[in-house]
Amino acid sequence: MLGVSLVYFKLKNPPSSLIKKWNTFFDQRSIDAVSRCVSDNSVSMGKLTYDLEDRLSKTLGRKHTICFSSGSSAYLSALISLQLEPFEKILTANRSWINCINAHSILRLRSIICDVEERAPIIKDTKKVCDWIINNRPRVILITHINGFWSRAEKIRSAARKVGAYIIDDRAQSLGSLNELDQVDSDIQIYSIGITKLISAGQGGFAQTDNDQLAQALRLTRVHGISSPEMRDEQLILGHNSRLTDMHAALADCMLDKMHLRVQKTNSIILKYQKELSSVQEIESFRPYLGGEYGVYPEFLVKSRDDLIKYLEHKSIQATRLFVSLHYLNKRIHDFNCIGPQVNSSRLDSHGIGFPGGPDLKDEDLDYVIACIKEFYSSKSVE
Ligand SMILES: Cc1ncc(COP(=O)(O)O)c(C=O)c1O
Repeated sequence: MLGVSLVYFKLKNPPSSLIKKWNTFFDQRSIDAVSRCVSDNSVSMGKLTYDLEDRLSKTLGRKHTICFSSGSSAYLSALISLQLEPFEKILTANRSWINCINAHSILRLRSIICDVEERAPIIKDTKKVCDWIINNRPRVILITHINGFWSRAEKIRSAARKVGAYIIDDRAQSLGSLNELDQVDSDIQIYSIGITKLISAGQGGFAQTDNDQLAQALRLTRVHGISSPEMRDEQLILGHNSRLTDMHAALADCMLDKMHLRVQKTNSIILKYQKELSSVQEIESFRPYLGGEYGVYPEFLVKSRDDLIKYLEHKSIQATRLFVSLHYLNKRIHDFNCIGPQVNSSRLDSHGIGFPGGPDLKDEDLDYVIACIKEFYSSKSVE
């Protein structure tokens, strides 16, 4: 009862501080772990990073884990480790993250973009795409899992193997959001532990592989491709400096201890949004998650999106459009082509919205956000 009247009060008197889309708070244990790194002078890549790599290999059931300064550097390094030639083709879904097309363009690779499912932002596993793979023989297929929608893409994976293409799984948003041991056929898997991830170190990422040679190449790419600091003249592969630091490894390690609680809380928030907003006609949910998958971000398709964003801002709530589809990016910067029309991706561009979520969102703030969204649409229907 108290909760309901508090929401009612806030509707009339919006809070002065913004309810952000995502907050990540680090507890006292994490603060102590970082200060130990500083006092032990363990501030760059060292033992804690290697320990984290071991832990992640065991947790996710992969042979090798190589940590990087971000998920984006992990992906760039993955492409470097495959030693591709300029203008080779990489196939990916239109709703993959912008880091992928940037990496392709940095390495002068050609991006081939295909549309996503109608009710999930993941690659559409169609015969048309498989035929394109067979006829055009891309060197890499990037399969991106978005917001708990786990992309099995079985037909595409099997077409990729027929033409000898590498498969990379972008699981940047997936750590904790799916059954970790739900293995699929791929050569390298990429994860992010950036600030808006369920398991966050502030910044960071990692690549996993079962292939010994790729693992060795990946390790080299994060230290300029040079085999050892003592042999500075021997560069074996292209590289850059993208080491994770022990301070970030310490934060990730503490966060991993809380993974299941964080997943549960985040998932319960998404389910509450879905249940409460199901009666609002102007709001459409994505398809339900399949077994073992969890959503991370409360995202929907809505009518009057920009007006809703403005209205929520006025109520001290941060809501944003979803990130832009790749086919809208600048053709002068990126070399890309699309397979067929991008109908479903375009719909997400026009109607996709993200509301506040994440394990650190307070229950009372969630109730208030939902009440404001309902209020917006009920006032519209009266107009
Ligand atoms: C699907 C996906 N891939 C890659 C990345 C890049 O990861 P990072 O931000 O750690 O560079 C992100 C980041 O949000 C992402 O969501």
